[in-house]
Amino acid sequence: MLAKTLHSQTKHFPNRFAKSLGYLDWENQPSYYKEYIAPKIGLDYFDINLSYERLYTKNKPYEINLKTIGTLLKNSLSINAIKRLYTSQWEVRVNPSSGNLHPEETYIIYKNKITHFNIKDFSLEILGEAKKEIIKNGFLVILSSIPLRETWKYGERALRYCLLDSGHAIASLAFSANLLGLNITKTDHFAFKKLENKTAPNEEEYIENAFILHKGDYELNIDEFLNTPLNLKALPLAKDSIRWEVVYELFESFEKEDFSPKFINKEIKFLPSKLSAEEIIQNRRSALGFIPKYIDKKDLLDILDKTLPRNIPPFNTNSHFNNIDIVMFINRVNGLESGIYYYSRNNLLKHNFTQIEERLYLIEKGDFSEASKFINCTQDLGKQSSVSFSFVADFEKITKNYHYKLTLQEAGMIGHIIYLEAEAKDIRGCGIGCFFDDLINNEILNGKIQAVYNFTVGVPLIDERIIKVNPKEAKNYIS
Ligand SMILES: Cc1cc2nc3c(=O)[nH]c(=O)nc-3n(C[C@H](O)[C@H](O)[C@H](O)COP(=O)(O)O)c2cc1C
Repeated sequence: MLAKTLHSQTKHFPNRFAKSLGYLDWENQPSYYKEYIAPKIGLDYFDINLSYERLYTKNKPYEINLKTIGTLLKNSLSINAIKRLYTSQWEVRVNPSSGNLHPEETYIIYKNKITHFNIKDFSLEILGEAKKEIIKNGFLVILSSIPLRETWKYGERALRYCLLDSGHAIASLAFSANLLGLNITKTDHFAFKKLENKTAPNEEEYIENAFILHKGDYELNIDEFLNTPLNLKALPLAKDSIRWEVVYELFESFEKEDFSPKFINKEIKFLPSKLSAEEIIQNRRSALGFIPKYIDKKDLLDILDKTLPRNIPPFNTNSHFNNIDIVMFINRVNGLESGIYYYSRNNLLKHNFTQIEERLYLIEKGDFSEASKFINCTQDLGKQSSVSFSFVADFEKITKNYHYKLTLQEAGMIGHIIYLEAEAKDIRGCGIGCFFDDLINNEILNGKIQAVYNFTVGVPLIDERIIKVNPKEAKNYIS
């Protein structure tokens, strides 16, 4: 099946949601934590004191060692807070995830060791040891997805969430690597497919992305990896599960990626932030609600500018398809009339909208805050937000399934930039995966351009439920 066919098949409509179980089978929820029965190496980390703009600009490289790897993970994919509500509590991470379900797993290859990142323990589990070094002057970070974690809740629409979450995870990794002064180079993830664990029914895992993190020249000896036997004995994730076949079919269908993304060559400028780069990364949270207040036009324009595909984090990961533009419902922005706007990152749409600023066009004036609530599956976030975004893609450009994968990753990466930029500006964002697709596609756009991910930004309600934790103490909170 074509990925874009599945996309059409998994639209939400006001009178009909995409196919899923329709209720949450709590008894059989898959675990968020994959654990291998393997020896472990405990991780440690250090703090980094760099200012906000260093998220994007070049930094002095740190030595590559286990503590640097621990620091990379601390600032990208680790648990960093506990949310508590009445008697329930759940762990949240540096990177966001749809429904907090976190389909992704991380593998690290360092020197001769092939390891899995155990998030719960903040450790590396050793799955294999090569006779010689697999990689010199760098290390590999390999990201996978376990679709069951998302299908459990979202059924057939889960593919979208897995790919959007990958985009967030990649962006998270790219910013963290940059603070350590490390280059991040995409490499063929198909080479690492033998890490895919296919033993437990429905718990298949798919390697999706691989990156080499390095300071300069590195040496990768892939045969050493391929010749090393692996111990992939892991604890099962779920007691019982339902198989949403089409999602697995799509994961199996992604082809080798043969696409070089384009970058723009525009100087990057920064507004000051009170927070350091690491504070921004560690403070990032999804808004649980917004106070309907105004933000400033200069902040919005600055946020939008950061989403442009420059060859800096996160787009330096070469994981995008130059296939996302942005529709905005501007509800409360000082200096911009309320209405629906278009921000052209990639010139995807032929239009005759009124130009307001570079790349920014007015589609229609008016108060669309009620519409923005309705479109976002009637979530209040849409109405109370200062701005609600739809990341839209040209589906005619998607002729291979991996084009769809890169498009959704691009949307996830843009969402991640907006999350961090919002924190930097003392406001907050929230990803929105639940929206009524065709209300955006047909009412506002021409049908060729379609929404793949929505997002909101505004002045957040204070979230009393958060307890910050460091990645090493997180395990004390997990039952
Ligand atoms: C792809 C994606 C879709 C999401 N969709 C929604 C949504 O529709 N409604 C919502 O309130 N939050 C949504 N979220 C926010 C998640 O619920 C949130 O990331 C998760 O609970 C973890 O919390 P944190 O972001 O504070 O770490 C989404 C996040 C992502 C990454």
